[in-house]
Amino acid sequence: MKVVVLTGAGISAESGVSTFRDAGGLWEGHSVADVATPEGFERDPALVHAFYDARRAQLELVTPNPAHLALAELEETLGDDLLLVTQNVDDLHERAGSRRLVHMHGQLRSAWCTSCDGRCPWTAPLADGPPCPGCGAASLRPDIVWFGEVPRQMDRIEAALAAADLFVSIGTSGAVYPAAGFVQLARLWGAHTVELNLEPSQGTVWFRDARHGPASMLVPAWVAELTARRLSR
Ligand code: APR
Repeated sequence: MKVVVLTGAGISAESGVSTFRDAGGLWEGHSVADVATPEGFERDPALVHAFYDARRAQLELVTPNPAHLALAELEETLGDDLLLVTQNVDDLHERAGSRRLVHMHGQLRSAWCTSCDGRCPWTAPLADGPPCPGCGAASLRPDIVWFGEVPRQMDRIEAALAAADLFVSIGTSGAVYPAAGFVQLARLWGAHTVELNLEPSQGTVWFRDARHGPASMLVPAWVAELTARRLSR
């Protein structure tokens, strides 16, 4: 059985990472247009660097929760039959043990050089304009896909959706495309569809099965159910 799992900010909420849209459209007190668009970065790079430097530093203080751990266990069972696609820029899936993973919106612990187009692992601040380890230019920016930019590895994701028997969406509001449209693609290509979210998402009507509650409860229960069903075949 081939499975694609999509995760969003809700899966990391119980680890203490704030979601985007739960506080009246503000993300840690900032408008998304100011901190998550190329125009915002052009207008005020210091603000944007300070914002992502703080998010990157916060990663030191958070740990994976039972939902991340359950998905890592599922990967142990399914191997290459699982693709985990996350919209999250934290590294909690990796730290839980997931390896077959696409960060479609980029990663906090990576920097992108706009001079040489190189990417490198990054855990320090970027606000003070450190040189790119590849070319030496002080042109590093957060390796995050902002609004108006193209999400990563869409070909790989679409191929996995086309082949999937099961598509599961966890902790995402269904407000941001293209991820919000994955459920429709998966259905079109014949997959069963499941939503696991605190509350009905904007796309909840597209899912055959929708379960609502905290991810730390719903995800381990769903993984146990799927594993038991697989073993009983
Ligand atoms: N368990 C499950 N779901 C939860 C929990 C929880 N403990 N807490 C919150 N949620 C749900 C909320 O109900 C909401 O539907 O998680 C969802 C989070 O939605 P958003 O904050 O919109 O986050 P997400 O869907 O990941 O945002 C998508 O938007 O700003 C951009 O690029 C950014 O990747 C992000 C994208």
